Amino acid sequence: MPEVRAFVFDAYGTLFDVHSVVTACRGVTSDPEALSREWRAKQLEYTWLRALMGRYEDFWEVTRAALQFALKRLKIAASQEQVNRLLSAYLSLQPFPEVPATLKTLHSRFPLAILSNGSPRMLQAAVQSSGLEPYLQHVLSVDTLKTYKPNPTVYDLAPRALGLAKETIAFVSSNSFDVVGAKAFGFQVVWCNRTQAPLDELGFAPDFTVSHLDEIPQALGL
Ligand code: 2OP
Repeated sequence: MPEVRAFVFDAYGTLFDVHSVVTACRGVTSDPEALSREWRAKQLEYTWLRALMGRYEDFWEVTRAALQFALKRLKIAASQEQVNRLLSAYLSLQPFPEVPATLKTLHSRFPLAILSNGSPRMLQAAVQSSGLEPYLQHVLSVDTLKTYKPNPTVYDLAPRALGLAKETIAFVSSNSFDVVGAKAFGFQVVWCNRTQAPLDELGFAPDFTVSHLDEIPQALGL
């Protein structure tokens, strides 16, 4: 396997904890975890459906629509002000605990980037509020292509931005569908399997699997 020359990270679920919106969800339901799970599942489902339909809307709109559905599905009444407060939680998601130190360590040796479904505004807000900005050479959004992961044209944004062959880039994600899509594209792939989930049955498997990002240097023999 070629030497790794850069790391590219998925954002939501990998660097940022999407379920840190649970705190905000407590304001509208007695089961905030259920709302957060339904919201996230529908958010991803809508990215795939809109990409397949050729009817792109950005991740902010998809996140808003998915929240509306989740509230309806769970029969939760929420005012527009409460909905806006839930949505704004997505602009300041918590990074997972090990993320800042891991990016700082890797940044000393490799160029780092984010490649995400997030809209440019969402990503900029999350990167700034988490303090990760100094470690990232590029923050790449699917929005320039008006489609979503796992379309291979999305993953191709990274080798083009970094000026590196895809085989020398380690792509890191916690989302199984993203891991499969990145491997199908041709990256070296690290699955940060935070929830010990089974891998999707789609014919592609990661090269490395860790439970937390701080295991990466040892897992890759860096
Ligand atoms: C991301 O692209 C897959 O939502 C995840 O950040």
